[in-house]
Amino acid sequence: MKKTVSVIGLGNRGTEYMGFLKAFHSSKVGIYALCDCRKQALDDIAPKFSVPQERRFLSAEAFFAQGPVSDALIVTTQDASHYEIAKQAILTGYKLILLEKPVSGVKEKYTELRDLAAANGALLIVCHVLRYSNYYRKIKEIICSGQIGEIVTVNHTENVGYFHFAHSFVRGNWRDEAASTPSILAKCCHDIDLIAWFMDSPCVSVSSVGSLKYFRRENAPEGAAPTCMGGCRAKKTCPYDAERLYIKDPFYKAKFIKYMKRTLTGKAKNTRADVQEALRHGDYGRCVFMCDNDVCDNQLVTMTFANGATAVLEMNAFSDKMHRECHIVGTKGELIGYGTKLQMRLFGGKSEKVHTFSPGIGGHVEGDLRLVAGFVKLLCGETTDLTDITTIEATVMSHDIALAAEASRKNGGAPVFLKEI
Ligand SMILES: NC(=O)c1ccc[n+]([C@@H]2O[C@H](COP(=O)([O-])OP(=O)(O)OC[C@H]3O[C@@H](n4cnc5c(N)ncnc54)[C@H](O)[C@@H]3O)[C@@H](O)[C@H]2O)c1
Repeated sequence: MKKTVSVIGLGNRGTEYMGFLKAFHSSKVGIYALCDCRKQALDDIAPKFSVPQERRFLSAEAFFAQGPVSDALIVTTQDASHYEIAKQAILTGYKLILLEKPVSGVKEKYTELRDLAAANGALLIVCHVLRYSNYYRKIKEIICSGQIGEIVTVNHTENVGYFHFAHSFVRGNWRDEAASTPSILAKCCHDIDLIAWFMDSPCVSVSSVGSLKYFRRENAPEGAAPTCMGGCRAKKTCPYDAERLYIKDPFYKAKFIKYMKRTLTGKAKNTRADVQEALRHGDYGRCVFMCDNDVCDNQLVTMTFANGATAVLEMNAFSDKMHRECHIVGTKGELIGYGTKLQMRLFGGKSEKVHTFSPGIGGHVEGDLRLVAGFVKLLCGETTDLTDITTIEATVMSHDIALAAEASRKNGGAPVFLKEI
């Protein structure tokens, strides 16, 4: 018999995961019930997955009041609701839960969820999708094989992309630390998770510097207006012009945010007029120098690990493309990764290109696909092996490091020992 999954949060992530379940796993898994606080989302999405009215819910409370209605649950709401919904899911009796990251920006909350999951025999998996991609799995495999010796240091850069940063962290959902989390947690808990996974040793201390350097009122160009379509005289030369990014750029030039119109309008299907209206009056048409954003647009984090190894993570908004770079230095050789391509150089030996068997769809999408495939395997009992699975237990370290980094940054870069947070 088919297994069933319910989903709370029918935005970008929830619908992507549901799409993968339908496209690749429909012989094993069906969508049972859906929940979103926006009726429009339920009306748009539920028919595509043949979910009847009586299994559509407008609040998590109403959904949980039904008891555990499916074999598993996916939680893809916004950051601030993850803790409460995941807690209710465990207490309601769900035994397999896929929860979007970040779990919480409060240590007591994510450790409480870890303990609650353990006490109730629930498997709470956090969507650190990158770990599931062939690319990062290959890196881990090489490290474990000992070919590059013991890791001495890791230098990892998350190039967020200027347009992506503006969309998410200046105009959008992750712009405000209080409403979501600091950008080093929201954006880089994936990267920190990778570093900690590669190290396989507890992090001992962290120090960090960074700031919101650019997306501030004083950097607005001459002639800028509060909205791009509200008479801005700097539009022509501003790379952040919302009209250009979301409407005018042709397909070959367009950045991926152009295809996230649902985020702008709240509707699955959009006309040009809908998008224009959203840009005139909504968050995403605002001048990037005149928003209510407060999260860092650049941050450096240094980490020391119990095994004596070190790591540096750089997060920055200012790249033309979104990509991650990773340089892993071992006692016998090094790995140099450019997001999809990987090279291994062994000291006194050869330098070789490593085939990662990562499809050319980008590490993130590949990770998303494989995360869902791994989730289905767990759901169907095809595997019980939790090695390398991003359980809440395995996630705590990435969140601890991110919180320690913020504490350090706010204290002028002074070291923070993890046992103190
Ligand atoms: N794993 C990753 O790589 C990755 C990438 C991007 C985003 N995310 C995370 O995924 C989550 C979802 O992101 P998204 O881009 O899909 O957001 P989104 O805003 O597109 O979707 C969230 C949906 O949840 C609904 N919702 C919000 N609060 C709710 C509540 N209390 N009850 C029911 N429904 C509620 C909203 O109406 C919306 O439809 C965020 O926490 C984000 O940080 C993870």
